[in-house]
Amino acid sequence: MKISIGCDHIVTEMKNHLVEYLTEKGHEVIDNGTHDKERTHYPIYGKKTSEKVSSGEADLGIVVCGTGVGISVSANKVKRIRAALVSDIETARYAKKHLNANVLAMGGRITGIGVIEEAIDTFLETEYEETEESKKLIEKIDSIPMNEDLIGDEHYFDEFIEKWNNGGYPAK
Ligand code: RB5
Repeated sequence: MKISIGCDHIVTEMKNHLVEYLTEKGHEVIDNGTHDKERTHYPIYGKKTSEKVSSGEADLGIVVCGTGVGISVSANKVKRIRAALVSDIETARYAKKHLNANVLAMGGRITGIGVIEEAIDTFLETEYEETEESKKLIEKIDSIPMNEDLIGDEHYFDEFIEKWNNGGYPAK
């Protein structure tokens, strides 16, 4: 399978581990970054990761930030993306089986690596079981309009990066 993955600076090591984990299992991984621990912004990587899935370049996506909240919300803003924030195996299974979620989101500071690995395995292995109702619901969700003009816009978050570069965020 071709997997698109992304994270923020809080969980870079975990994302790198997951890239290895997936590659060892025979998947092809598109690593959208971030690639180091320098402070950055989760929506950049949520958007990038989702766009690869939305365009069909990747089959599924995985996004991780500290809590998983910020990056899942961002990932969901991309057209055709149904990102599910999970912290347990059963929710990962449900998200794929009934909602045909195409991005799995997790909080690297909330959920342990063992559960994260198993949630990923479950998400990748579970088949979507389409029913008349789920089909209709998903069609409705996917029809909610999104801003196509922003697809691939690398500069959409520039103001946040500039603010950071100019010392606009208090050091932690
Ligand atoms: C750090 O930016 C932190 O807010 C982020 O990793 C995440 O926890 C947000 O939901």
